[in-house]
Amino acid sequence: MTRIVLVLHGPNLNLLGSREPATYGNITLAQINAELATRGEQSGVEVVSFQSNHEGVLIDQIHAAGAAGVGYIIINPAGFTHTSVALRDALLAAGIPFVEVHLSNTHAREPFRHRSYFSDIASGVIVGLGAAGYRYALDHAVAALSRADVTA
Ligand code: DQA
Repeated sequence: MTRIVLVLHGPNLNLLGSREPATYGNITLAQINAELATRGEQSGVEVVSFQSNHEGVLIDQIHAAGAAGVGYIIINPAGFTHTSVALRDALLAAGIPFVEVHLSNTHAREPFRHRSYFSDIASGVIVGLGAAGYRYALDHAVAALSRADVTA
Protein backbone atom coordinates (compact mmCIF):
# COMPACT_ATOMS: atom_id res chain seq x y z
CA MET A 1 0.00 0.00 0.00
CA THR A 2 1.18 3.49 -0.83
CA ARG A 3 2.64 5.66 1.92
CA ILE A 4 2.60 9.02 0.14
CA VAL A 5 0.48 11.91 1.45
CA LEU A 6 -0.02 14.90 -0.85
CA VAL A 7 -0.65 18.25 0.86
CA LEU A 8 -2.23 20.79 -1.48
CA HIS A 9 -2.39 24.47 -0.62
CA GLY A 10 -4.58 26.81 -2.65
CA PRO A 11 -4.28 30.48 -3.60
CA ASN A 12 -2.69 33.11 -1.35
CA LEU A 13 -1.45 30.54 1.14
CA ASN A 14 2.08 31.26 -0.11
CA LEU A 15 1.63 34.55 1.76
CA LEU A 16 1.13 32.94 5.18
CA GLY A 17 3.21 34.68 7.80
CA SER A 18 2.45 38.13 6.43
CA ARG A 19 -1.12 37.67 5.21
CA GLU A 20 -3.80 38.85 7.68
CA PRO A 21 -1.93 37.49 10.73
CA ALA A 22 -4.89 38.13 13.02
CA THR A 23 -6.83 35.58 10.97
CA TYR A 24 -4.15 33.16 9.81
CA GLY A 25 -1.38 33.50 12.40
CA ASN A 26 2.32 34.13 11.92
CA ILE A 27 3.46 30.73 10.74
CA THR A 28 4.75 30.56 7.19
CA LEU A 29 3.85 27.94 4.60
CA ALA A 30 7.48 26.76 4.57
CA GLN A 31 7.28 26.14 8.32
CA ILE A 32 4.01 24.22 7.97
CA ASN A 33 5.44 22.08 5.17
CA ALA A 34 8.70 21.39 7.02
CA GLU A 35 6.81 20.33 10.13
CA LEU A 36 4.58 18.00 8.13
CA ALA A 37 7.57 16.48 6.33
CA THR A 38 9.27 15.71 9.67
CA ARG A 39 6.11 14.36 11.23
CA GLY A 40 5.52 12.19 8.16
CA GLU A 41 9.08 10.85 8.28
CA GLN A 42 8.61 9.92 11.95
CA SER A 43 5.41 8.07 11.01
CA GLY A 44 6.83 6.28 7.98
CA VAL A 45 5.04 8.25 5.27
CA GLU A 46 6.40 10.58 2.63
CA VAL A 47 4.72 13.99 2.68
CA VAL A 48 4.76 15.94 -0.59
CA SER A 49 3.55 19.55 -0.30
CA PHE A 50 2.50 21.76 -3.18
CA GLN A 51 1.02 25.26 -3.38
CA SER A 52 -0.46 27.06 -6.36
CA ASN A 53 -2.45 30.20 -6.98
CA HIS A 54 -3.89 28.60 -10.12
CA GLU A 55 -6.93 26.34 -10.17
CA GLY A 56 -5.83 24.34 -13.24
CA VAL A 57 -2.39 23.66 -11.77
CA LEU A 58 -3.98 22.24 -8.61
CA ILE A 59 -6.28 20.11 -10.78
CA ASP A 60 -3.27 18.80 -12.72
CA GLN A 61 -1.61 17.79 -9.44
CA ILE A 62 -4.73 15.88 -8.40
CA HIS A 63 -4.88 14.12 -11.78
CA ALA A 64 -1.24 13.07 -11.43
CA ALA A 65 -1.63 11.93 -7.82
CA GLY A 66 -2.97 8.46 -8.51
CA ALA A 67 -0.14 7.51 -10.87
CA ALA A 68 2.37 9.03 -8.44
CA GLY A 69 1.21 6.62 -5.75
CA VAL A 70 -0.49 9.12 -3.48
CA GLY A 71 -2.69 7.32 -0.95
CA TYR A 72 -4.12 10.32 0.86
CA ILE A 73 -4.60 14.03 0.16
CA ILE A 74 -4.77 16.90 2.62
CA ILE A 75 -6.13 20.00 0.94
CA ASN A 76 -6.72 23.59 1.92
CA PRO A 77 -8.43 24.87 -1.23
CA ALA A 78 -8.37 28.41 0.25
CA GLY A 79 -10.56 30.76 -1.82
CA PHE A 80 -11.42 27.93 -4.23
CA THR A 81 -13.25 26.24 -1.35
CA HIS A 82 -16.20 28.48 -1.99
CA THR A 83 -16.12 28.53 -5.79
CA SER A 84 -14.57 25.52 -7.47
CA VAL A 85 -16.74 22.82 -8.97
CA ALA A 86 -13.74 21.89 -11.13
CA LEU A 87 -11.46 21.10 -8.18
CA ARG A 88 -14.25 19.12 -6.55
CA ASP A 89 -14.70 17.12 -9.75
CA ALA A 90 -10.95 16.44 -9.93
CA LEU A 91 -10.99 14.99 -6.41
CA LEU A 92 -14.03 12.87 -7.24
CA ALA A 93 -12.32 11.63 -10.41
CA ALA A 94 -9.09 10.78 -8.57
CA GLY A 95 -11.00 8.83 -5.94
CA ILE A 96 -8.21 9.40 -3.39
CA PRO A 97 -9.52 10.03 0.15
CA PHE A 98 -8.85 13.52 1.46
CA VAL A 99 -9.16 15.77 4.49
CA GLU A 100 -10.18 19.42 4.01
CA VAL A 101 -8.30 21.83 6.26
CA HIS A 102 -8.82 25.52 6.96
CA LEU A 103 -6.65 27.56 9.28
CA SER A 104 -9.48 29.91 10.22
CA ASN A 105 -12.96 29.01 11.37
CA THR A 106 -14.72 29.72 8.10
CA HIS A 107 -18.12 29.32 9.79
CA ALA A 108 -17.40 32.29 12.06
CA ARG A 109 -16.58 34.52 9.08
CA GLU A 110 -18.50 36.03 6.16
CA PRO A 111 -21.52 33.99 4.97
CA PHE A 112 -19.91 33.25 1.60
CA ARG A 113 -17.20 31.29 3.45
CA HIS A 114 -19.75 28.99 5.13
CA ARG A 115 -20.25 27.03 1.92
CA SER A 116 -17.64 24.52 0.79
CA TYR A 117 -17.66 22.55 -2.44
CA PHE A 118 -15.54 19.89 -0.71
CA SER A 119 -16.89 19.14 2.75
CA ASP A 120 -19.56 16.63 1.73
CA ILE A 121 -17.07 14.49 -0.21
CA ALA A 122 -14.16 14.79 2.28
CA SER A 123 -13.27 12.06 4.79
CA GLY A 124 -13.21 14.84 7.35
CA VAL A 125 -12.99 18.60 7.73
CA ILE A 126 -10.81 20.54 10.18
CA VAL A 127 -11.49 24.26 10.55
CA GLY A 128 -10.29 26.97 12.87
CA LEU A 129 -7.40 25.17 14.58
CA GLY A 130 -4.64 27.00 12.74
CA ALA A 131 -1.58 25.09 11.55
CA ALA A 132 -2.34 22.32 14.07
CA GLY A 133 -5.19 21.33 11.77
CA TYR A 134 -2.68 20.06 9.21
CA ARG A 135 -0.98 17.94 11.89
CA TYR A 136 -4.27 16.37 12.92
CA ALA A 137 -5.11 15.71 9.27
CA LEU A 138 -1.74 14.04 8.74
CA ASP A 139 -2.23 11.88 11.84
CA HIS A 140 -5.56 10.77 10.39
CA ALA A 141 -4.00 10.02 6.98
CA VAL A 142 -1.22 7.97 8.59
CA ALA A 143 -3.74 5.98 10.62
CA ALA A 144 -5.92 5.39 7.56
CA LEU A 145 -2.96 4.27 5.45
CA SER A 146 -1.77 1.98 8.24
CA ARG A 147 -5.19 0.39 8.47
CA ALA A 148 -5.12 -0.12 4.69
CA ASP A 149 -1.73 -1.84 5.09
CA VAL A 150 -3.18 -4.21 7.65
CA THR A 151 -6.22 -5.09 5.56
CA ALA A 152 -4.31 -5.31 2.24
C1 DQA B 1 -8.91 29.51 4.27
C2 DQA B 1 -10.30 30.11 4.40
C3 DQA B 1 -10.80 30.62 3.05
O1 DQA B 1 -12.08 31.18 3.18
C4 DQA B 1 -9.86 31.68 2.52
O2 DQA B 1 -10.27 32.08 1.23
C5 DQA B 1 -8.44 31.28 2.52
C6 DQA B 1 -7.92 30.48 3.65
C7 DQA B 1 -8.33 29.10 5.65
O3 DQA B 1 -7.37 28.33 5.65
O4 DQA B 1 -8.82 29.54 6.68
O5 DQA B 1 -7.66 31.66 1.65
O6 DQA B 1 -8.99 28.34 3.48
